[in-house]
Amino acid sequence: MSTLAIATAREVFDLLRDDLVAIEQELGRDSACGVSTITEIAAYLREGGGKRIRPSLLLLSAHMLGYFGPAAIRLGTVVEMVHTATLVHDDIIDGADIRRGRPSANTTWGNEKCVLAGDWLYMQAFKVALEEKNLRVLDLLIGLTQQMVEGELLQIQRLGKAVSEAEYYDLIYRKTACLFSVSMRLGSVLAGATEAEEASLAAYGRAVGLAFQIVDDVLDLTATEEVLGKPVASDLREGKATLSVIHSVDHGTAADRLAIQKVLDDRGFERVSRAQIQEILLRNGSVEYAMTIAGRYAKQSLQALAPFPDSEFKRALLWLPDFVVSRDK
Ligand code: IPE
Ligand code: IPE
Ligand code: MG
Ligand code: MG
Repeated sequence: MSTLAIATAREVFDLLRDDLVAIEQELGRDSACGVSTITEIAAYLREGGGKRIRPSLLLLSAHMLGYFGPAAIRLGTVVEMVHTATLVHDDIIDGADIRRGRPSANTTWGNEKCVLAGDWLYMQAFKVALEEKNLRVLDLLIGLTQQMVEGELLQIQRLGKAVSEAEYYDLIYRKTACLFSVSMRLGSVLAGATEAEEASLAAYGRAVGLAFQIVDDVLDLTATEEVLGKPVASDLREGKATLSVIHSVDHGTAADRLAIQKVLDDRGFERVSRAQIQEILLRNGSVEYAMTIAGRYAKQSLQALAPFPDSEFKRALLWLPDFVVSRDK
């Protein structure tokens, strides 16, 4: 493992600042369209901010392997646009009314326009990616998009059911970790990485992505809407059993299982209150369990970086998993 100290958030931000500024500019250019609704929705989402984790992963991966050319800016923009498209569609599917601390796009423009804006964003992302004239890049993005759509569909199929832990990991790999993994792969492809290097970086992205979604699901149970910038306690209300809830189903009492199933059936807290669910999760140590697993994936991701020589970019990648696990939004 690296002997270098882990970077700080400030250092990582400084390291990527110029690239991230360039990506913001590229995002602005790439989401301008002759149809004003699309330009408005895309601008609204962009101005809402967001952590820009996926482009940061791509940049760090490319830079750690010595690539600093303009394609990293373009493909960083591409992964953020794919992410944005999935958010637009996800909020429609989840019926969510807040995103990035503001009314969600579907609340403002309605589902019909937002479905189409999401489609447009997907295709715009592919159009920018096409500029690389690299079939490997397109292949990765197509596989990714299919995984993400399959993930959301599998989730819909499982709504209201207390899924197994194995099913949960499969689902969150597809809907979230796959994009983290592909972002790392794309950076490595630009740098002309060996197969082994690419596989290590993909493993890093997968592990960080799994940790990321586990924490997202914990925050849905423990955070406040003001801090998170999106609705809380919404997963249970949508009939989604996430890792903490699955843990209580597997390890709690028969009464705990029954109470959880009632909320999943009702898609709401009418018969069983949110406080009762929180008591169940607390008593069974279920949130702690989910955070332990997230921590384990974070640690696993660090091991995937072992083959790479020390550099400031590697330091940043060593910092990121801890940020993902300890974040509050
Ligand atoms: C939200 O992702 C969607 C999930 C995969 C949980 P982020 O939390 O990265 O969203 P932004 O881009 O920072 O808003
Ligand atoms: C992430 O799942 C789905 C995407 C890949 C967009 P969530 O439904 O938990 O994401 P949030 O919590 O709405 O951001
Ligand atoms: Mg959602
Ligand atoms: Mg969520």
